[in-house]
Amino acid sequence: RRTAILISGRGSNMVSLIEAAAAPGFPAEIALILSNRPDAGGLARAAAAGLATATIDHKAYPDRESFERALDEALTQAGIELVCLAGFMRVLTPWFVERWTGRMLNIHPSLLPAFRGTHTHERALAEGVLIHGCTVHFVVPELDAGPIVAQAAVRVLPGDTPETLGARVLAQEHVLYPQALRMVAGGLVRLENGRVVRALGG
Ligand code: GRF
Repeated sequence: RRTAILISGRGSNMVSLIEAAAAPGFPAEIALILSNRPDAGGLARAAAAGLATATIDHKAYPDRESFERALDEALTQAGIELVCLAGFMRVLTPWFVERWTGRMLNIHPSLLPAFRGTHTHERALAEGVLIHGCTVHFVVPELDAGPIVAQAAVRVLPGDTPETLGARVLAQEHVLYPQALRMVAGGLVRLENGRVVRALGG
């Protein structure tokens, strides 16, 4: 299924999705990389991989709605069926989210529903949790909420800093996101009436 990845930054999750999708038989084809920031490092990495890239700079639009209409148009024109948010740092309106319900995934660096929002590794350490991790979920209008597709756990180690912990979580993100996309694009996991339905193996 034709898939777009939306980024704002370095795009390490994007690279892991691109690499996974290059394998024969992978059910998603990465057809477009879209950034809201012209200076996103991931754009060069995507172009180097020979992929179509586009920038829709939110600063060039007077409001969120017109930015999202442009985004939606670019996705529709490219025949996109699935959207993966990968470090995409814009909050999306219910209008946009509803258009892509069940067809848009996000990765978040915590075991949701714990630690929604930013600075998840600092907050996990401050709370003294022993297990942390990452989550891929279907996107709903509420930020970092939404039915969970897949999770990976990471043990918090003595002496961990936000950086060391975050690096181990990121390594898990790079494994988890391709798995989650494979399940959703392959139809093993889908959203039905706001709930995740899993087929055998999903
Ligand atoms: C990742 O930690 C992701 O979970 C979060 O933003 C970061 C993006 O990193 N939402 P990258 O751009 O994929 O390297």
